Amino acid sequence: MTGPKMQATAVAHPNIALVKYWGKRDAALNLPAAGSFSATLGPMRTRTTVQWGNDADRLVLDGAMADAKATARVSAWLDLVRALAPGLGGAHVTSDNDFPTAAGLASSASAFAALALAATRAAGLDLADDALSVLARRGSGSAARSLFGGYVEMRPGERDDGTDAHAVRCQPADHWPLHVVIALTATGPKKVSSTIGMNHTVDTSPYFDAWVQTVAPAIEAARKAVAARDFEALTRVAEASALQMHASAIAADPGVLYWTGATVDVVHAVRRMRDEDGIPAFFTIDAGPHVKVFTLPEHAGAVRQRLTGLDGVRGTLDAVVGGDARTVDA
Ligand code: DP6
Repeated sequence: MTGPKMQATAVAHPNIALVKYWGKRDAALNLPAAGSFSATLGPMRTRTTVQWGNDADRLVLDGAMADAKATARVSAWLDLVRALAPGLGGAHVTSDNDFPTAAGLASSASAFAALALAATRAAGLDLADDALSVLARRGSGSAARSLFGGYVEMRPGERDDGTDAHAVRCQPADHWPLHVVIALTATGPKKVSSTIGMNHTVDTSPYFDAWVQTVAPAIEAARKAVAARDFEALTRVAEASALQMHASAIAADPGVLYWTGATVDVVHAVRRMRDEDGIPAFFTIDAGPHVKVFTLPEHAGAVRQRLTGLDGVRGTLDAVVGGDARTVDA
C-alpha cells in the first residue's frame, strides 16, 4: 500500500463570511442552521500533504507535532475518507500556514479545505465539488466554502444526512477584486472558539431564532450586490450580518462578547471614513476581536493608513480575493 499514488499535496485559502454562519442544526454531522456567503482570500494559504498507508495517523502543524486534541479531531475526520476507500491505513498529515494564527482568520477553513482535497486525491478518489465540500464541512463549517475561490455561497441543505449542505461558487475572484485590510487589535489565541461560541448561542440566546431569520434574505442581497458590483449594497448587508450575529452571541447566557474597546474603535473609524470622507469601506468581525475591512483596491492605502493610526491597532494585514483550492506538486 505504498507508492506515489498514496500521497497528495493541496493548497487552500482562508475565507471571510460577508453573511455569517453562526449556529448548527446538527452538531454531530456539523450541519449549519442557515446558509452563509463569503469571499475567499489570497494570497495567504494553507498547504497540506497527506500520505496514506501508515500504521497510525500523525499530524504535523507548522513544523511541530500537533497536540492530542488536534490530532484526534483530524483522525475522526480522516475516518470519513477511510469509510469511502477502505484499507487506506493511517495518514501522515503535514500542514503549514503562511499567515499568522493571530491574524484572526479562521485557519480551520483553509485547513480542512486543503485536507479534504489532499486526503481524497491521495486516496485515489476524485470527488465532485459538492461531495468534497460536504466532506470539508464535516471538519469545519466554514471549510466547505474555502474549496472555491472568489465569492461563495453555503447552502444549509434540508436533508437529515447533510448531503445537500455544501458550498457553491457564485462569482470568480476576478469578477470583483476587492481588497481587505485586517486590523489586528489583540495578540494571543482567541478565548472562545467559534464552535463553542455558536453552540452556546444556540442553547441559550433568546435572539438565536431571530438571527437565523435574517440569513436567507441577507444571502440573496449579498449575492445580488456582488453580481452588480454594488459596494454600497454589500456594505449594508455585510455590516448588518456581522452585527446581528454578534448581537445573538452577546444575548446568550452568559453572553459571548468577542469585542474589545479597540474593536469598537475600528468600527467607528470605518464608518467615519465612509460617511465623512467618502472612502468606500465596510467592516466585518468574526469570533475574535480583530476587524476585517473591505474596500476597493484604489482606496486600500488610505484605509490602511487610517487603521494604523488608531490607538489599539497593533498592526494590519492585507489580503485580496483569492482563488480555488487546488492540488500542487509536493
Ligand atoms: C464567525 O467554521 O469555525 O467565522 O463548523 O464549528 O468549525 P465549526 O465553525 P467555524 O465557524 C466560523 C464562524 C465565523 C463566521 C463564518 O465564517 O461564517
